[in-house]
Amino acid sequence: MADGGYDVSDYCAIDPRFGTLADADALLADAHALGLRVIVDLVANHTSEQHPWFTAAVAAGPGFPERRRYFFRDGRAGGEEPPNDWISAFGGRAWTRVREADGRPGQWYLHTFAPQQPDLDWDDPGVREEFDAVLRFWLDRGVDGIRVDAAPAMAKVPGLPDAGHAPGARFESRTWVGNPHWDVDGVHDVLRRWRLIGDGYDGDRLFVTEAVVRDAERLSRYVRPDEMHTSFNFDYLTAPWEAGRLRAVIDESIAALGRVGAPATWVLSSHDETRHVTRFGRAYTGAGFGGAAVPGGPVDLDLGLRRARAAALLTLALPGSAYLYQGEELGLPEVEDLPEEALQDPTWERSGHTERGRDGCRVPLPWSGDRPPFGFTADGVVPWLPQPPGWAALTVAAQQGDPASTLALYRAALHLRRSLADLRTAPLTWHSAGDDVLAFDRGPAFRCVVNLSAHPVPIDGPVLLASGPCAGTLPPDTAAWLSGPGTR
Ligand code: NOJ
Repeated sequence: MADGGYDVSDYCAIDPRFGTLADADALLADAHALGLRVIVDLVANHTSEQHPWFTAAVAAGPGFPERRRYFFRDGRAGGEEPPNDWISAFGGRAWTRVREADGRPGQWYLHTFAPQQPDLDWDDPGVREEFDAVLRFWLDRGVDGIRVDAAPAMAKVPGLPDAGHAPGARFESRTWVGNPHWDVDGVHDVLRRWRLIGDGYDGDRLFVTEAVVRDAERLSRYVRPDEMHTSFNFDYLTAPWEAGRLRAVIDESIAALGRVGAPATWVLSSHDETRHVTRFGRAYTGAGFGGAAVPGGPVDLDLGLRRARAAALLTLALPGSAYLYQGEELGLPEVEDLPEEALQDPTWERSGHTERGRDGCRVPLPWSGDRPPFGFTADGVVPWLPQPPGWAALTVAAQQGDPASTLALYRAALHLRRSLADLRTAPLTWHSAGDDVLAFDRGPAFRCVVNLSAHPVPIDGPVLLASGPCAGTLPPDTAAWLSGPGTR
């Protein structure tokens, strides 16, 4: 748990803190009985430092084959300096020096993330073979798909040349061109290998990559026909609440992914990013995924929630798959005042306590009741991150019977998205509805209108669903789904 579980010491087991393999099997069975499918997260760029491969590598010493699964290298300047200038996604350099068996400082090992997450060397045939078995282990158990963590990190330019990072550079992978430790072509060999394994299974097994790369064109390389099926869309996640930028991202995504025959995906929040209720309530509404700095500043949560609800209707009307992050259906804001002693994200320590990291979007969900732990766990038990006492009105129980709640909006939108055939199959066609208004059709009888301007705009079709009150006009920061002939 050095990085919220992204440091795995046994790929074929469940951490006892969360249960057992029998629990995982029961979860899969229950989900499948309900028509739900389950995707597991495969963290294959790095293991935990507690993985037996890594402990054996450290113990073996320089030159021994156990070190070949990882990147152990001698340092520069007589060993004192790291082997190159590569940087960690969590701040600081990407190398840590080990103590060898004789107690002296020895070689360095590479970690794209925290020091507790040593990178595997995917050029090592043993690593490839062992992960084939890991993949099969989970696919055999009946998981419906795999999320590929940190996919662009899984190949490095041979010889590990300097990247030319400036002193103090941040891990802004969306700006990098020709970087030697990110989005290197060799990654695609691994993905093709995995696709072949997935294709050997019955059913619809899905791969989705996490790839924060430069643009839609680079992203499309991860979803070529013999690679992954889909990839998360960080251009959409990071886009500010601006009609022009959103429309450009939507068009670029559909076009670039369409060129390789892959469906688009859409996502507004994740466990790595400031929740969009909070983001959209600030002066700067974009996100900074992948190490980019974003300005903070005062937040208007009412405005943020209004926009978040409109954004949900925009997202769920787009062609392709949508990823919802737990809690956005409750309209949860980022928890920005977690006490410092509660913070767990490695970013907090590695930034010298200047960046609080991602814990604020990971606070456990409020289910019921009027005080923490809000039904998330037994009363009196403190979850690993404290919930704000003010969340009573946001619990599932509190929103359940309220047709104006965010939970009711998401449920209605998901229901319509499934029941309207055009939302599954019809392409998107833009419709002109004025400055700072996004309006598009999906087939002849469905239109989505999103008002990002400062003024109300007229709407003339029967309203299927709206993100806020509207009668004849759509107020600012509101979206509506319209149906029927009035949409023409
Ligand atoms: C991406 C995951 O989404 C993030 O939470 C994690 O810290 C890194 N990969 C490292 O595994």
